[in-house]
Amino acid sequence: MGIEGRLTVAMPKGRIFSDALTLLEEAGLNLPRELAEDSRKLMVEVPAEDLSFLLVKPVDVPTCVEHGAADLGVAGKDVLMEEDRDVYELLDLQISPCRLSLAGTPDWQPVLNPKVATKYPRIANRWFREQGQQVEVICLNGSVELAPLTGLADRIVDIVSTGQTLRENGLVELEEITRVTSRLIANRASYRLKSRRIDRLYERLARVVMGKGDCDDRGGPSGAVVHTSESG
Ligand code: PRP
Repeated sequence: MGIEGRLTVAMPKGRIFSDALTLLEEAGLNLPRELAEDSRKLMVEVPAEDLSFLLVKPVDVPTCVEHGAADLGVAGKDVLMEEDRDVYELLDLQISPCRLSLAGTPDWQPVLNPKVATKYPRIANRWFREQGQQVEVICLNGSVELAPLTGLADRIVDIVSTGQTLRENGLVELEEITRVTSRLIANRASYRLKSRRIDRLYERLARVVMGKGDCDDRGGPSGAVVHTSESG
């Protein structure tokens, strides 16, 4: 699992990356500059910590971990819910908090079978089904906020963090679907085969998270981990 002998961690490039890096450093890891800098390197070895980092798109972190390219990963709860991968969720890292919300133009009027644009088709379909509403979900990979402005969709389901993107595009948040933070996830086989090393890293991270208070510890290596593909 992962690169032989070394613990491999899949890190999400983009919004979560610097928060995740700060947390690892707060946990006492001595990380090289090439990881922090905006380099194009996709695999960074840290022999002093016996770690390898893979830098991947956030949506690909659970895939890398499920298939064993990485032993561990840092993934947003939004991505975990959408991807529904067969991985263990070890710890709520409490970083990069945001929410997944329904949004639209302020003058939005109900229509029959509205179109909803999103990067999260699985979550959106499930949520609207639970609300008893029939919608047509349109999948986009980015710039989702454009959809209601161009007539591509009536509403959107997307991440809201500061709210700036909605504001700057004249949209309003209509309803919160779920709160999102980033989680430490593990490959199922690595979790057994590299338990001591995973345990050690888990404990260092958990100490920092708990030190900040409000820790939603999901059990950790010696407790009941959440099996994300079943947790929804
Ligand atoms: C997310 C989301 C919004 C934006 C919200 O995109 O899709 O566009 O962040 O943040 P705000 O409320 O602080 O403005 P992200 O930056 O993760 O990148 P992506 O669009 O490339 O997926």
